[in-house]
Amino acid sequence: MRAAFPSLRLRRLRQNPGIRALIRETELNLRDLVLPLFVKREMGEKHPVASMPGHFQIPLSLLEQEIKEIKSLGISTIMLFGVPNTKDEFGSDSYSDQGIMQKALRKIRSLDPDLLIMSDICFCQYTDHGHCGILSDHTGKIDLHNDKTLELLVRQAVSHAQAGSNVLCPSGMSDGAVGAIRQALDLAGFEHVAILSHAVKYASSLYGPFRFATEGAPSFGDRKTYQMDPANAAEALGEAHSDVREGTDMLMVKPAHAYLDVIYRIKQAYPYIPLGAYHTSGEFGMIKAAAEKGWLDEKRAVMEILTAIRRAGADFIISYYTKEVAQWGVLPR
Ligand code: PBG
Ligand code: ZN
Repeated sequence: MRAAFPSLRLRRLRQNPGIRALIRETELNLRDLVLPLFVKREMGEKHPVASMPGHFQIPLSLLEQEIKEIKSLGISTIMLFGVPNTKDEFGSDSYSDQGIMQKALRKIRSLDPDLLIMSDICFCQYTDHGHCGILSDHTGKIDLHNDKTLELLVRQAVSHAQAGSNVLCPSGMSDGAVGAIRQALDLAGFEHVAILSHAVKYASSLYGPFRFATEGAPSFGDRKTYQMDPANAAEALGEAHSDVREGTDMLMVKPAHAYLDVIYRIKQAYPYIPLGAYHTSGEFGMIKAAAEKGWLDEKRAVMEILTAIRRAGADFIISYYTKEVAQWGVLPR
């Protein structure tokens, strides 16, 4: 007789937690999680992000305390976002040696030589129009000037490398960004600095709370001309393919929870390339808000969703729950 699956024996064995752990397919460890951090210049206090409970814009003067806390919680990797004081047409704070990111990177690096720092490379927080690149004209058309964008993106990238970033994360979806950044890094002697491209980034509603955190919402128009249509999955393979060809070290899918099929496909297509998934601010907010209403068991929901993102194929997850998960003490370091 053919045995049913799972067999009665297996069901019984699974009552033993040791066996459950032995046959579990997906592992989630604290070291698989990356904590996003927002740094802002010239404030006395941490400034809470209203749309993201538990998250703050952190002034340079309080970074030391923050980094200490992060380390003591066992968090190994951060993803840094800068909020500048001034914005202009070209986003000049983003590539200035005295820019918010450059200052924060130098500071964190000097505080902790071992912390893995991923740094966001983009223009939306730094430009007065709030788009992820330099616009072709200012007549209200959303047309990114690709060459001009790449030229300044490369300056931004090299300055982050100089300031101590380990992994550069171009998040603006400009064509040719990875190749241009790689070439410039190598020329400047930063062969050891890695690139994690936001290869597959959708024009998603799930970035809403983040745009308050970085003060980077577009002043007009939307990002649909340079971010992907949520209806497309095969196209994601094309996006990943060009970034792989241009030399990205790692790939990313963003958002994560609504795009598990895309994570799965990218991992199948590029099993040898480390894959990150960005559990975005909106995805964080959905759980947070439901939990505050008492509609969800927050810990269980978070662990289930993060595990599902790993199961789909992500090697690591950028998550606004990283700190809380660490505080809950539920994951092996
Ligand atoms: C912009 C950027 C966005 C996020 C990260 N980088 C927002 C956007 O494209 O509008 C979203 C992250 C999040 O929602 O957590 N380069
Ligand atoms: Zn951007």
